[in-house]
Amino acid sequence: MEIQLWKELLDPYEQAVSELLLKFHNLKEEHWKKNLYSPIESVNGRVKTVSSILDKMMNKGIAYEQLEEEVEDIAGIRIICQFVEDIEKVASLIEQRTDMEVRSRKDYLSNQKKSGYRSFHMIVWYTVQTTNGPKKLQVEIQIRTMAMDFWATTEHSLQYKYKGDIPEHIESQLTRAADAIEVLDREMSRVRSEIMNAQIGSRLETNLVQDILRNIENLYRLDNKREVVKIQNEFYRIFSQHNLDELARFGKQLDIMAEGSRAQSVESSISGRVPD
Ligand code: GTP
Ligand code: MG
Repeated sequence: MEIQLWKELLDPYEQAVSELLLKFHNLKEEHWKKNLYSPIESVNGRVKTVSSILDKMMNKGIAYEQLEEEVEDIAGIRIICQFVEDIEKVASLIEQRTDMEVRSRKDYLSNQKKSGYRSFHMIVWYTVQTTNGPKKLQVEIQIRTMAMDFWATTEHSLQYKYKGDIPEHIESQLTRAADAIEVLDREMSRVRSEIMNAQIGSRLETNLVQDILRNIENLYRLDNKREVVKIQNEFYRIFSQHNLDELARFGKQLDIMAEGSRAQSVESSISGRVPD
């Protein structure tokens, strides 16, 4: 038997996890930047440890040669959503991507596990570019709500503590907790649109303020400084009212001013005049 090069085997999986973390993080950011509600709340990932891979191989009788085919979760990504409805959205975002190809799905939402576990799983093919050329590998993506994640994390610790043999009375408590989690998720769904609007509103305000301050700064460089200080004071006055419509109206006015000012400065630099 040849020596088994674990590091060499796992390096591309490390690469896949870090690339995917960045991609899902960017997907979330992209939503926010466009003032859209993001179905992704947070994302984390890991590469399975060698000891955990060995455990699985021994338990399931998997040979080293079959490892990459049989162990689908060497690379694992977990996407956490706020609401059950978001899970489907995330799954369809993944399906639409051209940089990953869905190999299989497991729906533990419609088919809750006996333990009480709920999540939506996808195994995807993902290609990383390495010095040895492209390498296509499997990644397990788990999509679940914050509440489901809370349950799964807790239950997992207990599985670990009791080495998979959880006492019956704790098991039934966990089942009850899983039921409560389902009720909680359903209750949260009822206020979903309310929460979504609040979050979009707060993000809209953040983005508006950013744009306004950028415009004020640019105007300050190009225009009558005393006038711009007045504009800044007006901004502070409007901001203190926390009226999104007013803020948007002010932002639009400032956009027009900034546009005009930019045009003027281009004009004067062409004609060689120094702007006042
Ligand atoms: P594994 O050998 O665990 O991969 O089982 P499997 O190949 O049949 O896949 P399954 O879909 O059952 O589980 C995949 C992953 O989902 C696991 O590695 C866990 O991270 C998670 N999972 C599945 N069932 C449970 C559960 O009952 N409790 C918790 N906490 N996690 C679970
Ligand atoms: Mg599995």
